[in-house]
Amino acid sequence: MRVLGIDTSCDETSVALVEGGRILAAKVAGQDALHSPFGGVVPEIAARAHAERFLPALDEVLSKAGPADAVAVTNRPGLVGPLLVGLSAAKAFAFARGLPLVGVHHLEAHVAAAYLLEPPPAPPFIALIASGGHTLLYDVPGHGRYVRLGQTQDDAAGECFDKIAALLGLPYPGGPSIEKAAKDGNPRAVDLPRPLRDDPSDDFSFSGLKTAVLYKLKGQDARRGDATKSRVSVADLAASAQEAIADILSAKAVRAAARRGRARLVLGGGVAANTRLRDLVAERGRAAGILVFIPPKSLCTDNAAMVAARGAELLESGVRDGFDLDADPYAE
Ligand code: KG4
Ligand code: ZN
Repeated sequence: MRVLGIDTSCDETSVALVEGGRILAAKVAGQDALHSPFGGVVPEIAARAHAERFLPALDEVLSKAGPADAVAVTNRPGLVGPLLVGLSAAKAFAFARGLPLVGVHHLEAHVAAAYLLEPPPAPPFIALIASGGHTLLYDVPGHGRYVRLGQTQDDAAGECFDKIAALLGLPYPGGPSIEKAAKDGNPRAVDLPRPLRDDPSDDFSFSGLKTAVLYKLKGQDARRGDATKSRVSVADLAASAQEAIADILSAKAVRAAARRGRARLVLGGGVAANTRLRDLVAERGRAAGILVFIPPKSLCTDNAAMVAARGAELLESGVRDGFDLDADPYAE
């Protein structure tokens, strides 16, 4: 089945055609330049940009790869305006061509990105999804089953990267900026906390880490707006913050898999594009005898091929949605 995937849940207009775990064509039109002056995604600007960029992206994919047999679209969670652009387009396309339509959960799609690997991971496995809005662990006991084990109690890992980058005066999006700045820094230069790393739960917490970076940067008086000039270099702070986030995420993900006797671990979400995190998870996975599956960076950040992959799983199990399918921006 040739599944057309569509994702406009945040700030990437993405369309892809996938067949049997193979990407036939894919387009991701980013909007970083539009949002970077504001230091984060502006929902209204994102929705308008999706409306402008969607049809050219769809044309490009269809003219390269030919027709689709079904349509899968992210309808939850995400920013409501951006979600509605993709959802309306998906409905119109499915209606006009008489194709089945299925709504996809964005975070389950991040997990399903691993099904585009060759060879793909076979369930059961544990999945760590770390993105700009979410950080959570899933147990995937079988195909199409996504059981949430734990999640962040405050900021997401990507949000932590973005906020620390803003503190350090590095451009949005923060993850890639911190990764770049960290190349010249010492990851052991600044002692930063690892909140909840050793907690027995599968939950995460990143807001304390962000505050710790603020104090290291501006001194303890930062909270009173009486900042002293930092003696710590941006590169060292970036490297130390990246190390702390990678340490927490990799320790908890590998431990979640080991505890449940899962022999496979999948990584996904924009933060999984981080090289230090990828390396540390691979290293700790190896040490624990757990096979680690990490999609290429372009399939970790938002993309529509992963939506098609999750859509294929739903369609193959007989799921179909009607044209009353709605956006659910705050879906769990
Ligand atoms: O999954 P994603 O593309 O969009 C959401 O669904 O949120 O994730 C975006 C997040 C942003 O917070 C961004 O800073 C982070 O992923 N990110 C990274 C890297 N590339 C993107 N974080 C760390 N290192 C990277 N190389
Ligand atoms: Zn995402």
